[in-house]
Amino acid sequence: MAIIGGGRVGLFRGEVAARHPAVDWIGLAEVKPDRAEQVAASIGADFVTRDFRELLLRPEVTAAIIATDEHLHVDPILAAVERGLPILIEKPLATKLSESCRVLEAIEKSGTDAVVGYTQRFRRRWLAAKEKVRTGALGDVTLVTSRAFMNRLVAIDNYRRANDPSSISPMVISGTHALDIAMWLLESKTATEVYARSVDKVLGPLFGGIDGTAGMIAFEDGCVYHLNISWALPVTWPAAVYSLEVGIVGTDGVLTIDDTHRDIVLAVTAPQAEGYLPDSSRLVDFMGSYPPGDMALGELRGPMREETSEWLNRISLGVPTQHATAKEAHNRLMLTKALDLSAKKRQPVPLPLERES
Ligand SMILES: NC(=O)c1ccc[n+]([C@@H]2O[C@H](COP(=O)([O-])OP(=O)(O)OC[C@H]3O[C@@H](n4cnc5c(N)ncnc54)[C@H](O)[C@@H]3O)[C@@H](O)[C@H]2O)c1
Repeated sequence: MAIIGGGRVGLFRGEVAARHPAVDWIGLAEVKPDRAEQVAASIGADFVTRDFRELLLRPEVTAAIIATDEHLHVDPILAAVERGLPILIEKPLATKLSESCRVLEAIEKSGTDAVVGYTQRFRRRWLAAKEKVRTGALGDVTLVTSRAFMNRLVAIDNYRRANDPSSISPMVISGTHALDIAMWLLESKTATEVYARSVDKVLGPLFGGIDGTAGMIAFEDGCVYHLNISWALPVTWPAAVYSLEVGIVGTDGVLTIDDTHRDIVLAVTAPQAEGYLPDSSRLVDFMGSYPPGDMALGELRGPMREETSEWLNRISLGVPTQHATAKEAHNRLMLTKALDLSAKKRQPVPLPLERES
């Protein structure tokens, strides 16, 4: 197993992989030496390097996890594809549409099994919703709505890490999770047009960034998906990361899902060092709102653990799984880019968006 990028996610996935019975050799590529040392010790790495190409040349490597920063997935993906490895890639597939197209073409040409970390698909609530929609409990779905609220810590972390703020947006980086769930539920439908508007009063002056985007995706059969995300809420907003509300309306039923995590509220007198950079003003937490899961008894518990183990079962035992394919991930990047473009032009944008756009 090759782990490329030993940040928060590389560590979580590496720890799960290290315990899986099918993994008997594990290598890590991480550019930051201190971080590499720390992660290598936690996962018991057999090989550590700063250079992912050196790792991918190792004969022991038969699968790869790519968990580099959002805008740095492309080169490691292409190198792993060249070796024909099964790959688990972090979302988004790329941050530019032209790169996402290039990556998808390479994956499809090679025929390699590449899946993308849309981790929420591994939570029971979204699986239960998927099953009800799939088996027709709601009739024909006509309207979907999602509201995603995040405090601004993830946005600050992303804008600080990116060298080009124009490739980072709340839709591309974080809105993509809610969008993937909705599009997964609507997988039989074809999206034809998007319309969106963005605001930038907080992150614009700080980073040239975007605070939030509200939009609509229209489908060929008349169905509409109404979505919004803000990742510029004050840091005191109690969700560590994501708080989401979703409604799915059909001709014969409706399903609403409160995923705001208001059911477990922690209030403390000293900040807790979990998730993104803890801010001393964050003393109340909606527990469970960190999408990968929570650390308990020294291990990650939650959807990223299941997603990683199931991927290892998929590639070692051939077990079918609900991982997002590279094609679906490219579609999500295309839709989020189309929403951003529509907001920028203040015009509806027809779909699919072509790479030149
Ligand atoms: N699926 C989920 O629920 C979920 C949750 C959080 C983050 N993510 C995604 O995971 C990815 C990583 O996020 P993170 O929070 O772990 O970020 P991070 O900044 O903690 O980790 C990224 C790591 O990659 C390393 N890196 C960058 N380029 C490299 C290269 N060429 N070779 C080797 N190492 C390299 C960096 O030094 C850093 O340590 C992002 O795409 C992010 O969107 C997914």
